[in-house]
Amino acid sequence: MNYSLHAGGKRIRPVLALACAEVLEAETDKVMPFACAIEMIHTYSLIHDDLPCMDNDDLRRGKPTNHKVYGEAIATLAGDGLLNLAFETILKQSQVSPNMTLAALSLIADSAGVEGMIGGQVIDIESEGKTIDAITLMTMHLHKTAALIMASAKVGALLGGGGREDLIVMEEFARYLGIAFQIKDDILDVAGSAENLGKTTGKDNASQKSTFVTIYGLEQSEKMLVDYTNKAVDALSKYGAKAEFLINLSKFLLDRDR
Ligand code: IPE
Ligand code: IPE
Ligand code: MG
Ligand code: MG
Ligand code: MG
Repeated sequence: MNYSLHAGGKRIRPVLALACAEVLEAETDKVMPFACAIEMIHTYSLIHDDLPCMDNDDLRRGKPTNHKVYGEAIATLAGDGLLNLAFETILKQSQVSPNMTLAALSLIADSAGVEGMIGGQVIDIESEGKTIDAITLMTMHLHKTAALIMASAKVGALLGGGGREDLIVMEEFARYLGIAFQIKDDILDVAGSAENLGKTTGKDNASQKSTFVTIYGLEQSEKMLVDYTNKAVDALSKYGAKAEFLINLSKFLLDRDR
């Protein structure tokens, strides 16, 4: 669990949760247990995603994948352990009211479950070797990647004292950002370098994955990446200068090489 969690990673989801609370001028301390939990869930999803029965990857966050070091059984259990630790962390360390804790827990659990990330991973696996339509592709990306990113933003807004309107805005922002994020991930698998990325490139093609690049081509995917990033940034307009960090983060993710 420590090995994969401390291997690095961009920490986009926890940063998003903290930053969305900051936009509402809230203290971020109370968001921290939830932000950590989200990163634990994300890291577990990567450990399992890399297993031979899934994407069969050897490199993650610049290091040999968990199962390469500890074997498949321990890697599976490390993932299970991180998923559970996420909820233990929230339940033991939350400093917000029980009602608020439950509401945030519910957002996180839904986004990580079958109606969210796991459901998206199922579509991903079942789409291998097939040509899927644009709607299935979008559904897959919304679930496997955007869902947890949306939950991160919404949890930040919720714990930051945001009202219904703030939650709607943050959800819209993060939906576009999440789609853009997975489009970029698909592009980097084709156009990035393993040295920068810390993961093996060309894997989607080798596994006959359905991705934005296979459905739309590289050039169109690049355009859609810019388009979705712009939509994400536009969604934040009501916050003006307070959204500067989130806007910069969105632009950083557009140009990232890792
Ligand atoms: C990789 O996520 C898996 C996807 C959902 C695209 P990240 O690109 O956020 O991975 P780390 O956390 O930086 O390693
Ligand atoms: C993974 O998507 C999404 C997860 C929920 C883990 P990918 O399979 O494209 O992620 P990478 O490219 O291995 O990081
Ligand atoms: Mg995968
Ligand atoms: Mg993968
Ligand atoms: Mg990928």
